[in-house]
Amino acid sequence: MYASGNLELADQATAELLEYWESRILSHADAEEDGFYQEVAEKNPNLEETVLQLKRDHELMRIMVKNVHQMRETGGFSKDILHKLYALLEINAIHSQEEERLLF
Ligand SMILES: [Fe+2]
Repeated sequence: MYASGNLELADQATAELLEYWESRILSHADAEEDGFYQEVAEKNPNLEETVLQLKRDHELMRIMVKNVHQMRETGGFSKDILHKLYALLEINAIHSQEEERLLF
């Protein structure tokens, strides 16, 4: 839809994606930090540093989502937003792999 030049549609899709990120991915991250990560660190103090690193991944994703919101509000849809959304997906994919590799 971006390639076809429909910026309004792309902006709407961005809004829906941000909503998805907040309601699913970021709220899942909040829940992990309030429960699972704390349990892991309590049971295995060696993993405290790892948990901190994984929390930083979450924080990066929160910051990126917030930045995309601001970009949308100030300038509407742009290629830069698309790049950030791709980067967000990549960070989340790496984060999930690392969670799997280090905590399970
Ligand atoms: Fe996570």
